[in-house]
Amino acid sequence: MFSKDVQDLSLHVTFDNSRLRVKIADSAKQHWEVPQSLMSPDPSYHPADPAISLLKFSYTESPFAFTVSRKDNGDVLFDTRDHQFVFEEQYLELTSSLPKDANIYGIGEVIGRFRRDPENTVQAMWARDAGSPDYQNIYGDHPLYIELREGKAHGVHILNSFGMDVLLKDQTVSYKTLGGVLDFSFFAGPTPARVMDQYTATFGRPHQIPYWALGFHQCKYGYKSIGEVAGVVANYSLASIPLETMWTDIEYMDMFKDFTLDPINYPLDKVQAFIKKLHANNQHYILIVDPAIARNDSYPAYLDGLKKDVFIKNPDGSNYVGQVWPGYTVFPDWFAPNTQQWWTQHIATFMNDVPIDGIWIDMNEPASFCQGSCGSTRTGIPPYPWKDPNYKPDVPQDFPEPNYAIHNYYGNLSAKTAPTNARHFGGVTEFQAHNLYGHMEAIATRSSLIEINPAKRPFVLGRSTFTGSGAYEGHWLGDNHSKWSQLIDSIAGVLSMQMFGIPFVGADICGFSDDTTEELCLRWMQLGSLYPFSRNHNAIDMIPQEPYLWPSVAEASRKALRTRYQLLPFMYTLFEHSHRSGAPVWNALAFEFLDQKNLLSVDRQFLLGRSVLVSPVLEKGASTVNAIFPPGIWFDYHTYKHIQGPKTVTLDAQTDGHMPLHIRGGHILPLQGSALTVAEARQTPFNLVVAFSRCGRSKGSLYIDDGTSLEVGLNFSSIKITANHTTLSTQGYFGYNAIPDIQKITLVGLPSTHALVHKSNTVKFAEPIHANITTVIDGPFATVTLEGIRLPLNRPFTLHF
Ligand code: NOJ
Repeated sequence: MFSKDVQDLSLHVTFDNSRLRVKIADSAKQHWEVPQSLMSPDPSYHPADPAISLLKFSYTESPFAFTVSRKDNGDVLFDTRDHQFVFEEQYLELTSSLPKDANIYGIGEVIGRFRRDPENTVQAMWARDAGSPDYQNIYGDHPLYIELREGKAHGVHILNSFGMDVLLKDQTVSYKTLGGVLDFSFFAGPTPARVMDQYTATFGRPHQIPYWALGFHQCKYGYKSIGEVAGVVANYSLASIPLETMWTDIEYMDMFKDFTLDPINYPLDKVQAFIKKLHANNQHYILIVDPAIARNDSYPAYLDGLKKDVFIKNPDGSNYVGQVWPGYTVFPDWFAPNTQQWWTQHIATFMNDVPIDGIWIDMNEPASFCQGSCGSTRTGIPPYPWKDPNYKPDVPQDFPEPNYAIHNYYGNLSAKTAPTNARHFGGVTEFQAHNLYGHMEAIATRSSLIEINPAKRPFVLGRSTFTGSGAYEGHWLGDNHSKWSQLIDSIAGVLSMQMFGIPFVGADICGFSDDTTEELCLRWMQLGSLYPFSRNHNAIDMIPQEPYLWPSVAEASRKALRTRYQLLPFMYTLFEHSHRSGAPVWNALAFEFLDQKNLLSVDRQFLLGRSVLVSPVLEKGASTVNAIFPPGIWFDYHTYKHIQGPKTVTLDAQTDGHMPLHIRGGHILPLQGSALTVAEARQTPFNLVVAFSRCGRSKGSLYIDDGTSLEVGLNFSSIKITANHTTLSTQGYFGYNAIPDIQKITLVGLPSTHALVHKSNTVKFAEPIHANITTVIDGPFATVTLEGIRLPLNRPFTLHF
């Protein structure tokens, strides 16, 4: 169709209990593949019985076609029969049938609705520096989808780093890729959470985040000096709004050179004093690092990189020179043998002077402002293309463009990035490995941080991600706009990243580009207070948007963040589940209530784990939310008033109130107190909120460790909490001792006729212990609060009411 047919193909099928891998490759093995070393499969993953597969593979040799079906009910999940199959040098195409109106989620990174349009989806996989265009290809590539069918879920993924289109139309899914091999993985589910478990077991479990990363973060592109940055920290404190981590964007650097400080506005002594003060207050500091290295003859990182030969090359062997913030720049080649050591050395030298707590890796698609090796023969500082009305773009060079044009929204694959003919070490071309650039930078950066500080969990936040990136980094959703529509989009964005194994994710709160407004920023602080990664970030030249700037936003932020900080032990436990099994921290309603057809497209509400329903205000001028309540009983997080689902309810949500949050009956939330820093919050006593299901049961869990060690060893606790109307008990592994007691238990959803607790004023725990008991009746339910107790979390207990 578009290039030369490959004559001999080999088919390799491997499987275990829940995963089936189908690899179709040229027999001569000449096609480039994603190196396995870039993936980190979980070696401890043991599917139930590897010999018994839930999936069945069948094929016909001529014409070649295959099906993947479920063994239990015979449902055909993937079916390439009657569809074109092409395997050429530079074009591979494979199509499968889908059911009518299929429920497909994923195929990102993308901005748009969570449920994909099964009849009109054209998603290119080509990492691209582009703000926030709906449904176009943007920063990362995740060709994974989860399909929900008749109450069951399965997943399909293709591992291939070439440019690719994934298309949904005419009841089919098609893959059209510009090279490589067809390496499909099928995940049997049968729940979305199981698919995520199987997917992350295959390509990389989400890394364990430091506990402090769950605190609130503040950033802006354009803080003019360290004095201004310090002022922001002080203003947070004055406004009593929690601030865990302060960030600084590219302006801290000397002429935008990585590993340097601007001597005038960010002088070393002042930056050091600032960090010292932050650390003394248990706060953190993160700086941005871009991959592009200034081509500047007095710049050590550049000179050393030349010596060690670590930069991407042109076809003639000279260094490829693009353009980013510092002007003409070269780009680290993560394939080259000396790059890791060079990168670590320059990060280490810098951190020796400037002890930051994490690294933010941006512009790593990689972004470049000009076409081709535009700086190879030029010197000086080029104008920013968008700032100079007289700037003429470089004449596009003759880059190899394939005959099939994927739907890259810049058209030419070499536009605004390293050109397809650029060379990496070992003869790998940018054409083959473009989509891996950000992923490989994350691997390198995490390795550097571990080498510099082997005991500590690294913090890396990255823009361009790929399959498996969650093992190395978190992600923010990139350059959104201060628009209500983008507040809405952020929910689907965060939910999709959970599927892709990158649970630590958030959007720029209050919006990046454009000026925000007081009301939008307030609502965004409310929703963003529950983003897994919660950071207010703003573009240069936009009006300031720190939450303390408007009294209404300050008050809403204090309230919202108070709730977040109470929820920290619960959220940290969700992250631990995610690290172990890929479980989502934010969860789509459709993924939890598999038999509820009316929830299939819901992406304006979501669950925290499986236990808390979040119903944010997403519209200008609104003071109520029409919220869907799935089956079960739900209790207001703040008042404990109940709502029996399934039902749609108009909830009150004034700007000076709380964002609606409901605890799911049957679930226990381990909460702590709020504070201005995570370290302080971690010292406060626990409050167990036990929300009963209609049948009078409730369970939950708590994972806790020191929050910073890379190797936890046995120094952690993993506690199961169970309750019924007469007993509450904890059991599990108790290896972490520095944990405050439980001083409050809130029993929610007891039958109001159940008078046991408030009749006797004591509860039995070895020796009877005293508690102050209050009871509030809400129709058929009672909320009973036991206060003034002390129950340990460093050993098991059983409490009888
Ligand atoms: C692009 C990033 O997406 C944005 O967050 C950052 O502020 C700018 N680059 C400047 O570094």
